[in-house]
Parts: sequence; C-alpha cells; structure tokens
Amino acid sequence: MSALRLARAFTGRDKVVKFAGGYHGHADGLLVKAGSGLATLSLPSSPGVPSSYAGNTLLASYNDAEAVTELFQNYPEQIAAVIVEPVAANMGVVPPQPGFLNSLRSLTSDFGALLIFDEVITGFRVAYGGAQSLYGITPDLTCLGKIIGGGLPVGAYGGKREIMEMMAPTGPVYQAGTLSGNPLAMTAGIETLKVLSQPGVYEKLGNTTSRLEKGITEAASASNLKLTISRFASLLTIFFTDNQVFDYDSVSGADTALFGQFFQQLLSEGIYWPPSQFEAAFISLAHSTEDIDLTIKVIAQAFN
Ligand SMILES: Cc1ncc(COP(=O)(O)O)c(C=O)c1O
Repeated sequence: MSALRLARAFTGRDKVVKFAGGYHGHADGLLVKAGSGLATLSLPSSPGVPSSYAGNTLLASYNDAEAVTELFQNYPEQIAAVIVEPVAANMGVVPPQPGFLNSLRSLTSDFGALLIFDEVITGFRVAYGGAQSLYGITPDLTCLGKIIGGGLPVGAYGGKREIMEMMAPTGPVYQAGTLSGNPLAMTAGIETLKVLSQPGVYEKLGNTTSRLEKGITEAASASNLKLTISRFASLLTIFFTDNQVFDYDSVSGADTALFGQFFQQLLSEGIYWPPSQFEAAFISLAHSTEDIDLTIKVIAQAFN
C-alpha cells in the first residue's frame, strides 16, 4: 500500500498494474478479482471495496508481457507502477517464464512507470538477495515482510534514493504507524538475517527441498493422479492438475476438492500442509531429514 502510494506520488499517475493471482496484502485497491479482458477495469473482490478504488487497478495475466504492453498503450502516461511477485507464490508456486521479468523491467522504464517487486515471500527466502538477485533485475522498489520479521509482524519497502527521498520526513509522502519500526520485530528480524547470512544456509534449504520434491515426484509417479509439482528454491506446490502452470487461469483448473482430501489426510497424520491449493509450502531450516521423510511417507499414503 505504501509502496504504491509512493509510486503514485513519484510519477504523478494513478493507475497500477497487478497480475491475476498476485496477492499484495489487503489494501483496498489490490483486492481485485482476476478479470477476463486484459484492459478491463477490475471489479473489487471483497465487499466494502469501493469500485472507484479498484478501478485504478489494471489486471494482466502473469507471464504475459504482451498484455502489459497493451495496457501501457491503452493508458498512456496513466500507469504509475507494475507490481509483481517475481516468483508468483500466492496462486501456488508459478515461476516466471524466461524473459518475463526482463520485459517488465524494460516496459516500465520505457513508459516512465516504476517496477515494484513484491518479495514479501521470496525476499531472503529464495536467496539472500531475493528473486531479483537470481534474475539479475533491479526493480525501482522492493517490498519485504515475513522473513525480515523473524516471525513477528513487519513490512518494509525500499528502493532508489530519488524515489525514497519523497517519503516523509525528507519528502511529502506520508506514512506512519504505531507499530512501525517496532523494536521487538526489528530485533527478531535482524537475528533471522544473521542466521541467513551464514555460509551454506541456502544450500541446506535447497537440499532439504530437493529431498522433498524427489520423494513427492516418486510418490506421484506411483499413483494414478494427475499432478504438477511446481518448485522454486524452497517454495513448493503440488497442483492437482497435469496442466502446465504459468498463470492464474492455468492453475484455476486444479482439482480443489481432491486437494481438500489430500490436505485432510495429511492433517490426520500430523502433517500440516498449506491449507489451500493456491498456497506454497515453505521449507525451513528447522525441517529435519526425519521431518521430510515422514512427510514423504504420509504424502505417498495420501496419494494412494
Ligand atoms: C507476496 C505478498 N505480498 C504482500 C503480502 C501481505 O502481507 P501482510 O499480510 O503482512 O500485509 C503477502 C501476504 O501473504 C504476500 O504473500
């Protein structure tokens, strides 16, 4: 919300582009359903969101840079920012296709808009430098959360100096909150980042996740289920579909009823999988080999 306010103030424009299936918090203008027409103004997806708010949010399909180009052409000098999860994780894990993020970088630069990477999930999780370090792309603004609070509530955004200097107290853009900079959350976050900066941490996370992915893949091929296992670093989703997953429409065909049975079966065996087909499992440093092997065993039983 604050990053978008800043982007609007910096560019003097009102509209923002988000991707269907992308989640960026519960700010009014971002609670927008997946629309069908690329350039269609969106409908709010929650009661209580004025359509005038949602009307400034333009939707495109994830991995569809052409659609973003069309939006820039259809709304000349009106788009303040494109906000994207560089690796989508709120419609289940859907990695960017080659060139997609580069296209967003060049389109936003060409059309005078800001590129905002929402790395609330991917930041410090997929790599110490986030997804942007893996793809070698520098966005104008980055949003962070979750990990940087070490489990305590926090959100942060940052970016290029000339943009950030528009924030109060150096600039006119307002942002404040009773819990902003909360010392307890900051301390938990700093300690977490210290752990993550130690050598070998991301290799360990990668190895643990590879073990889980391999076990699930083997269990899946032994079953007759149509599954797509989508993994990026320590993020993983089992989609109950054999569609190739690349955007919100392609994941929407997944069998959510079957997923529900899968989830309940795991829960009854003491494994708490993410409770929605459209969420990612996060593998953490706390997961032991025994935890992973037990999870694989229970998943194999559930598939059967
Ligand atoms: C990518 C992303 N951005 C933003 C948010 C919003 O974070 P919060 O719920 O702390 O406002 C979330 C929450 O899950 C998220 O996954």
